[in-house]
Amino acid sequence: MKHSVILDVDTGIDDAMAIMFAVRHPDIDVKAITCLSGNVSVDKVVANTLAVLDLLGAPDIPVAAGARRPLIEPARDASWVHGETGLGDLRLPAGSRVPEQVHAVELLRRELLAADEPVTIVALAPLTNLALLLRVYPEVADRVGRIVFMGGSASVGNASAVAEFNIWHDPEAAAIVLSSGIPLTMYGLDVFNVVEVAAERVAELAASERAVDAALGSLLGFQLVDPADGTVFSHPLIGDAGAVCALVAPELFRFERVPVQVDISQGIGRGQTIVDRRSYGGEDAVYAPGQEPWPLVDVALGVDTGAVLELFFDVVTGVRV
Ligand code: RIB
Ligand code: CA
Repeated sequence: MKHSVILDVDTGIDDAMAIMFAVRHPDIDVKAITCLSGNVSVDKVVANTLAVLDLLGAPDIPVAAGARRPLIEPARDASWVHGETGLGDLRLPAGSRVPEQVHAVELLRRELLAADEPVTIVALAPLTNLALLLRVYPEVADRVGRIVFMGGSASVGNASAVAEFNIWHDPEAAAIVLSSGIPLTMYGLDVFNVVEVAAERVAELAASERAVDAALGSLLGFQLVDPADGTVFSHPLIGDAGAVCALVAPELFRFERVPVQVDISQGIGRGQTIVDRRSYGGEDAVYAPGQEPWPLVDVALGVDTGAVLELFFDVVTGVRV
């Protein structure tokens, strides 16, 4: 099955890996890539995205800059994880490509209206661009077949004890997307955190003569060392790339269609995705009947890690692990 896809990114180490997978997968037609501030500033995100497309020898895919900051919060980057440039210590030649001279929201609208079939948006960053699209051009919502978003968690957080970075960065934007009525797939930390590459594989890639493989090894390798104090992580993750794998190979994951809401309070849970896995209501139904039902979301809760890694490396490097 062919997928027409728009990637919304904050390239970023794992967004770069997701772009590699999406561009090289034979059943994905990347119509556009929209950028915004998240891991690093949107200007760096655009530069990184263009450079990765050049590295891949990708076809001419329109790229546009979007939100410089969240709807309400200030921009708070994750350069302590992704490095100052956003691509760890990988240094790529400056891209020969130039971004579209329109805002990402305009590029999203243009591509959605031009598509002759519903488009899947794979959101790998804070959801600010998508929230702005839905508020400025609500009529395009029915041109979106599904949003697959890397974000949230039914369990542990990363940006805070309970909140995942993309949602924590802009909770209000997430609330707008969740209430959009568009079919949603949530690729959260419950699966994001377990698709891990063995250190030996990382070393092999880093030593490769092939530019893309070596770049992949560098990106994965950077996650091995905590830039703050040199602590060695033991989990180089394919991260965002897993969300694209979930689009093309859903059979490798276990999904539950459950109610999900996001905490937009100013309390300690701000940015948490509250995933209601109960099979019955509780006191919330007894003492506060008639509440607006929460959006139903296909949440990834299990993954065949070996099979996903095999798919990822087969597509990106052409080598079966
Ligand atoms: O929490 C992880 C997510 O936040 C990933 O998408 C990473 O790239 C950052 O955007
Ligand atoms: Ca990302």
